[in-house]
Amino acid sequence: MRRDATPRRYLMCPPAHFKVTYSINPWMDPTKPVDLPLALAQWEDLRDRYRSLGHTVEVLDPVPDLPDMVYAANGATVVDGRVLGARFAHPERAAEAEAHLAWFRAHGYTEIHEPAHINEGEGDFAVTASYVLSGRGFRSSPLSADEAQEFFGRPVIGLDLVDPRYYHLDTALSVLDGDEVMYFPEAFSPGSRAVLRRLFPDALIATERDAAVLGLNAVSDGRHVFLPQAATGLFEPLRERGFEPVGMDLGELLKGGGSVKCCTLELRD
Ligand code: ARG
Repeated sequence: MRRDATPRRYLMCPPAHFKVTYSINPWMDPTKPVDLPLALAQWEDLRDRYRSLGHTVEVLDPVPDLPDMVYAANGATVVDGRVLGARFAHPERAAEAEAHLAWFRAHGYTEIHEPAHINEGEGDFAVTASYVLSGRGFRSSPLSADEAQEFFGRPVIGLDLVDPRYYHLDTALSVLDGDEVMYFPEAFSPGSRAVLRRLFPDALIATERDAAVLGLNAVSDGRHVFLPQAATGLFEPLRERGFEPVGMDLGELLKGGGSVKCCTLELRD
């Protein structure tokens, strides 16, 4: 099958103030040192890779004392140019929501909704051709699904996450193209697994080994799939489907519990 990349616009935030000083997910160990210059170099690599493949990367200014801001995917969800702001579950990240809103206001977005319910942006919302998938269980409120459905006017499907290592939907499921996804079933409740099988019978099913290196924290432009390079088991199945895997090393940012997708907010204008 021939796969075509379409040019995308991404919003990213450099890890200038990145550190792991608190722990709000099982990946974060404040006693483990972070190599900041290396984190920056790895992030720049991802940004440059997007640009070299024809994508636009907008840059959000990092704010001191918001070390998790590098995970830009959590700050909003943009569909059809409509911006659903975030509301973070943990006080440590709360101020990121306003920094994102300010960026969107300054960049000409007019349809902006400040949410009533907790949602951590594209951490828990995944956009396919037909649906918005909405993760819940650890961060986003189940009520955020209805709020997103009303604002975007697209059917929103709630999915229950059950494994704390996969605390955001984007650590367990990734949209490849249209209504094609890859996911790790064990991260979901039995009922949600059945929903996923029904909606996506041809999905690429990831193994525990690839999920455990955050291999599902991937970004696709319809052809290239940018993903953690350690997720080697996903490369061949992606190629068989006509995709081109692009392995990235974001090892320093894994210490905060995120990788490629977490660092990338898609601007679907
Ligand atoms: N330390 C961050 C947190 O726990 C990591 C966020 C990762 N982002 C993501 N889209 N999964 O909130």
